[in-house]
Order: sequence, then structure tokens, then C-alpha cells
Amino acid sequence: MKTLAPFAGCLLSLCLPAAAIDLSGLTPIGPVAGFTTATDGIVVTCRDGSQVAIRILAPDLVRVRAAFGHALPARDHSWAIDKTVWDVPQWSVKEDSGALRIFTPELEVVVHRDPLLVEFRDAATHQTINADERPMMFDAHSGGGVAAAKKLGFDEHFYGLGEKAARLDKRRGHFTMWNRDASYAEGSDPLYQSIPFYLGWQNGAAYGIFFDNSYRTYFDFGASTQEYAAFSADGGEMNYYFFYGPSMKKILARYADLTGHMPMPPLWALGNQQCRWGYYPDTLAEEVVRRYRADDLPLDVLYLDIDYMDGYRVFTWDPKRFPDPSAFTEKLAKQGVKVVTIVDPGIKYDPGYQAFDQGLAKNFFLKRLDGSLFHGKVWPGDSVFVDYTLPDAARWWGDMHRAYTDHGVAGIWNDMNEPSDFLDQTGQTQGDVVSYDGGANSSFNRNVFGLNEARATFEGLERLRPNQRPYIITRAGYAGIQRYSTMWTGDNTSTWDALALSIPMFQTLGLSGEPFVGADAGGFMGRTNAELLTRWYQVAFLTPFCRNHADRTAYDHEPWRFGTYYEGIIRKYLKLRYRLLPFLYTVLEEAHRTGAPLFRPLLLNYQDDANALTIDDEFMVGDALLEAPILRPGETSRLVYLPAGTWYDYWTGQRYSGGGMIRVEAPLETVPLFVRG
Ligand code: GLC
Repeated sequence: MKTLAPFAGCLLSLCLPAAAIDLSGLTPIGPVAGFTTATDGIVVTCRDGSQVAIRILAPDLVRVRAAFGHALPARDHSWAIDKTVWDVPQWSVKEDSGALRIFTPELEVVVHRDPLLVEFRDAATHQTINADERPMMFDAHSGGGVAAAKKLGFDEHFYGLGEKAARLDKRRGHFTMWNRDASYAEGSDPLYQSIPFYLGWQNGAAYGIFFDNSYRTYFDFGASTQEYAAFSADGGEMNYYFFYGPSMKKILARYADLTGHMPMPPLWALGNQQCRWGYYPDTLAEEVVRRYRADDLPLDVLYLDIDYMDGYRVFTWDPKRFPDPSAFTEKLAKQGVKVVTIVDPGIKYDPGYQAFDQGLAKNFFLKRLDGSLFHGKVWPGDSVFVDYTLPDAARWWGDMHRAYTDHGVAGIWNDMNEPSDFLDQTGQTQGDVVSYDGGANSSFNRNVFGLNEARATFEGLERLRPNQRPYIITRAGYAGIQRYSTMWTGDNTSTWDALALSIPMFQTLGLSGEPFVGADAGGFMGRTNAELLTRWYQVAFLTPFCRNHADRTAYDHEPWRFGTYYEGIIRKYLKLRYRLLPFLYTVLEEAHRTGAPLFRPLLLNYQDDANALTIDDEFMVGDALLEAPILRPGETSRLVYLPAGTWYDYWTGQRYSGGGMIRVEAPLETVPLFVRG
């Protein structure tokens, strides 16, 4: 029988979604008893038998890894990390009676002996950037939980954490990471993705912390107390990376080095995309494309949602709805349109169905500890799931995409990969599900399931079409997902609030290492209206992922649905996107190379401007374009903050001196747009 890594309970009393972090009852690590040096840092041994490794990866990047009450385990594996071998910079260590001090060209890491507190200082100024408020902690009762608490500055601001339905500045917020299929509104937490990486900003200097722990994790940025900012997990290791800026862009570049750079997507991925749940049969899908062309609306991609499959069986085509998939994709290709198909991870439990039979015979499906298959319920009904941590299973999954590439399908849409299970969206009933996990046979880790599915898909597409850049879009993910996939923000709603929320969501994703983002334009669920759809396109035309999509029960909202007046405005913005493609592609290449996202908060370009710290109803594209969208019904003018410098109104050429607010007119045809001088 397989061994199961201890599945931590919820003894940190952190189990309830979005509960603030309570550190009471946890046992502190330490104090320091001694240390040894290695080529890349030191290993501190504590009087309680604990060990803390401080590893220097770069002058501005330090890893802290702790084992509580025992030595650090030899196994050291993460699905997130891309770069494991670093050119260790010059460093030195000194000790005195109070502390061990590690010096890199940019950082001074002080390990105070008693109590054991880790403090990061600027090497030049000796100013504290970030410091433990109390020693790292563990849950001695369950043996599973770990926590860290950092001093909280009076004017400290927090950003990042990936996909969060929250404002840009996360101060006073508390968040959970536990991939979940959830339709959402502002405040819903957790969502589909887990990116446990955040940026702190204080007195103009930024740092980053990547808590690489894919168990259920929690972050508290002054929600429970003004004394500390804390992060914790129900299990796994206290294992985090500390990044020092002081510039945020520098941190994002390092984060990309560590967890992987987004590969360049094909240029067509920046084209306009159209989707809807319900585009079948093939003739109806063709009609959508015909209408796009007839109406002189740009279009590069058409999506097929689950309706193309035979009974929602992945890797199949419905013989009635899509009798000749190759002819279908060819017909669209002639009009310059690519096809992307949805691929869900649930494989229908259906003896006689090839994917099920093969996966079962090869032992590729996730199982429970007692050896029985793990079942869930998704679109095809009773379904099983692949253990993507099994190398052979991942390869098989990737190769199965021949069912699409053989028919000219251009890209893959990975949905439902939290994984969604209609019987249990919390994962509570999965405690005894085992995944191979490099031979560790660990308890199933839902936070990395989507990441590993996307990886298997990406590598499959690379094998099947070696000379083409893979294009994948995913709903779920973990840190590192940018190596394999673009993302969209799942099932939003057709509301003004959802449109407004999408701005800080994209900005936050961009500050979390995911540059290629977007939302369902018009909103997925509910009823959009002409004004909302038009205003939505005025944002979507500048997001990397620009796709109109709707639920099967939603009101139709293709660009022409509300008549020629609105369609004309939408056309104007889609055409502007295409005119800007060389610029957008260039900025995307910058994201690929440097980690600085295309869709940015002002803050990223104007880190020293205190006014920019919380602005999330405006955004920038690269460092040259600034948009102040209209996010409320009936509004035809708004206040716009322009950072210091010269700005030009994109439409009129009028020149402005920044450093303050201006009021600008914004009739429905015109979104406030400015070009940096
Ligand atoms: C999920 C997806 C949505 C898709 C639907 C049907 O809700 O988020 O985009 O249309 O499933 O596949």
C-alpha cells in the first residue's frame, strides 16, 4: 500500500474560507544553537532540533526553508520552480553574540539568535526592508501547519497573490489559496488559481515574498491585527523566497527567472477571439465567422465549448454536430480564423470509450488510498481524472491532443481544472486521494493539478507541432503556470461591478507573474446590455486576451447584437487593437523577457508616486499608454489621474502636464486614452 504524506488537518483554525490568520497556539521555532556554511548559504540548527536553511540565489534573492523539530528533508521539490541552478553571488557571513549576518551585494540577512527572527536589510543603507515579527511557527499538535508573521509597517502596501477578486492594494485583506470552481464577485475567495506570491511596498521600496507551498495557504495583510502581516499553510514546508527591489520591475524579473518566463505566444493569440457556450452545429459556428467578416469586424479565433464533443467525452467529436472537423477548421482557416477547443480534465467513466479504457489500463487515473478510482461529477457525469504527476500519464495526455491537431485545431482551452467536481468543490472529500508526485505518493494536491495539466498539454503540443508556439488558455493554475499557459478569469458576470473588478484583477495577475490575462468580455453569466458591452470592449481591446464569451443561458452579446450604433463603436476599438498590434506584441515580448506585464497598474511605472499606490480604475499598457475606462452606467466624463510628466490625449492630441487630476469627457464613443510624452 502506498504511503501517504500526512494530510494536515485544519488545526491552525484556518479552515473556513477567507478566515483571517490566528497564530495563537502555534509553537515558535528556535532559538539558534549553531550553524554550518555551504557554498550558497548557511544552515542554522536550533535548540529544538529545527533547521533553517538560508540560501543565496542572487544578490537580491534569498530562500528561507525551515523544518520544525527535525532536520531539513533531503527531498526538495516544487512544481513551481523553473530555475534550480543559480550563479551564487559573492556573499559572506559574520556572527556576533546576538545574530548571524549574511551579506550579499544587495542584502544583509540578519538571523537573530534568541528569539530566532529573520530580518532583511538593504546592504547599502542597513535599513530594514522586512523582518519577522515573531519566530516562524508550526502546529505541534497536528504536525502539519506552518506560519510566518512579518512586522507590518504603518504605511506598508501589499500587491499580488494572483487571481483575487479584490482591489489592487491588498492591505487589510486576508486571502486563501485553494483552487476552486466558483462564480464570483468582489470579495469571493478563493478563486480558481493559487499564486502565493506578493509584493510589499514601504517608503518607496518594494520587496517580494513567494511562499512556495501548494497546500492550502493563507495570507493576512493586517486584517486581524496591525502588528503583523502573516502567511501560513495547513501543511507542507515553511519555504519562501525573499526578493528585494527596491524596484518592483526588478522583483518581477527575478520572479520570472525563478518560476519561469512566459513563452511568446503566437501573434494570433493577440487577435480578437469569439466564444460562446452553445456554438453548434458547425454551420452555426461558421455563421458567426461569416457575420464577423460581413460586418467588417476583426476576428482571429473562434472557440468551441463543450458542445463539440461526443457526450462531453474529451478527445472526441460529436458526429452530428461536427461531422467533419478538418473541413470545418479549413473553412475557417480560409477566412483567417483559427479554432481553439475546450479540453476538460474529467474523463467520462465509460468502458468502451478509448480515453477511459487506455487510461485505466495504464493505471493513469487518480486513486484513493484504498486503491479505488477517484470519481467526480462534471459535464460528462461520472468522471475520473489523470494523475499528471505521473510522467507517462502526462505524456499520454499530451499525445491524446492528436485528436485536435490532426484536425487543424490551433490551441487548447483547459477549463474545469481546479479540478471542478459538482459533488464537492471544496476538495474536502479528496483527503485520501494519492498522486505519484515524483515517487513521494503524496496526498492529492489540487493547487497544482491545473498547472500539471497545462504542462502536459503544452509539452504534448510541442511534440505534435514542433515548429509552432503552443497556445493554451487555462482557468486553474499555481505559480509557474505562465510557463505553459495564458489565463482568463473564469465565470464573471454581466455587471458593471464585474467590469470594474476586472481592472485590479488583471493588474494583480500581472504583478504575480502572469502577463497574458483577460476576462470574458460582456460578462459570462447574466444579461449584458448595449452600454455595458460597449464599455467592456473599451477595456478588452487592450487586454492581452480579448475574447467575448457567454454562458449557454446568457443573453447573446456578440458585437452586433445591440444594433449598428453600438457595433460601430465596438468595431472602432477592435480595429484600434489591430492597429496597435505591433505595439502590443512588443510590450508582450517585454513581458516574456523581463516579467513586466503588458496590462499594468500605474504603480508599476510610477512606484515613487504615492498617488499611484491604490489607483485601480485606470491602467497602463506597457509604459506608454494610459487608459481611464468608464466603469459606471450613464457616465460620460470622469476624473483621470495623470502621473508627473507630459501626456497627450490619444484622440485630440491635446497636451497635459501630469501630476494631478483632470476631468475629461467620455461620451460612449470615446474612452479616455493618453499617450506618455
Ligand atoms: C465553465 C467555464 C466556461 C464554459 C463552461 C462550459 O463554466 O468557465 O467558460 O463556457 O464551463 O464549458
